[in-house]
Amino acid sequence: MIEKLNNLKTEVSAGIDSVKDLKSLEEFRIKYLSRNGILHSLFEEFKSVDKESKGKTGKALNEFKNFLQEIFDKKKEDLNSGMSVNESKTDYSLPGRTGNKGTKHLIAQAIEEINGIFENIGFKVYYGNEIEDEYHNFDALNTPAYHPSRDMQDTFYVDGKGKDRVYLLRTHTSPGQIRVMENTKPPVRVIVPGKCYRNEAISSRSLAFFHQIEGLYVDKKVTFRALKGTLNYFAKEYFGKSLKTRLRPSYFPFTEPSAEMDVECYLCKSKGCNVCKYTGWLEIAGCGMVDPNVFKMVGYDPEVYSGFAFGMGIERTLMVKHGIPDIRIFYENDIRFLKQF
Ligand code: DAH
Repeated sequence: MIEKLNNLKTEVSAGIDSVKDLKSLEEFRIKYLSRNGILHSLFEEFKSVDKESKGKTGKALNEFKNFLQEIFDKKKEDLNSGMSVNESKTDYSLPGRTGNKGTKHLIAQAIEEINGIFENIGFKVYYGNEIEDEYHNFDALNTPAYHPSRDMQDTFYVDGKGKDRVYLLRTHTSPGQIRVMENTKPPVRVIVPGKCYRNEAISSRSLAFFHQIEGLYVDKKVTFRALKGTLNYFAKEYFGKSLKTRLRPSYFPFTEPSAEMDVECYLCKSKGCNVCKYTGWLEIAGCGMVDPNVFKMVGYDPEVYSGFAFGMGIERTLMVKHGIPDIRIFYENDIRFLKQF
C-alpha cells in the first residue's frame, strides 16, 4: 500500500497543475477527497492491512491525507485570489497603472529654455537676491529717492528696523545687473532670471508676484544694433521664426536711450484684438543702452565701456508663446492647465 501511496502522490502533484479553475478543482476534490473518492477508499483498504505493517502504513496514509488537503487548500486560495493566469478576469497584458508624476512648472521650464538660448551665445546665468536693499533695487540704477519713476514700481518693503539699509522685495531683476558689475570687470555677459514682487492690483495682466529675466552685456563698443540683434535672435529661437518684432522708444532711468520690444499678437497676428488692445502688438521686454550714471555707480568708466540691458517678463513671454489670456492661471495650480506643458 505504501508503494501505491507514493504513486498516487506523484499522480496528484502532476494533476494539480492542470487545475486552472474552480470547476476542475471541484472535480479534483470529488476524485480524491469526497466520500466516494480515492482517499476514502484508501482508508477502507487500510482496515485490511496486516497488523505488523499497520503502524507504518497508517503513518504514510495520514501523511498522504495531509498532503492532499494542503495541495487542495493552496489551489483554492490561489484561484480565489485571481492568481490563475488562464481563468482570471485580470488581463495581465494591460499596461500598468502609474501614479500621477509631478513635472516642472512651466515657469521653471521657460526659465531653463530661456537660459539655454542665451547661454548658446555666451551669456552666463546669475541668480540675484529676492530680498534686496533700496540701493541696489533703485539708487544704483539711477533712481534716487526723489526720482518720480520710483512710483512706476509699487514696492513691498521688508521690516529692517535697526539696520543701516532699507530692505525690500525686489521689484525687478535689474539689481542683479548692479551686483554682477560690482563684482566683475568687463566684459560682462549675464542673464539674471528670478522672482519679482510689486504691490499691484491683481488682474488678468498683472500679479503682485511674477518672474523676469534680466540681460546685461558690457564691453568696449557695444551698440544698440547688438541689442536689437540679440533680442531678435531670442525671439526667433523662443517664439519660432514666424512672429514679427519691433522696438518702440520708451523710458527707463537706468538706460539711455530706452526702448520696449513688442512681438506680433499671437491671437490676431497683428490685425488687432482685445488681448493686444487693438494695437496688434504685445510688449515683452524693456531694454536700452546702460546709462552712464549706472556705470559710474559700479566703478566702470563710461568713456571706455558701453553696454545694453533688457528685462523680460517671463509670464508675459509664455502668454505670447502659448496664447494664455490670463496671468492668474499660472498660479492656480490647476492640473488640467499645468499638464499641458
Ligand atoms: N526693470 C524694468 C522693469 O521691471 C525692465 C527693464 C527695462 C530692464 C530696461 C532693463 C532695461 O534691463 O534695460 O520694468
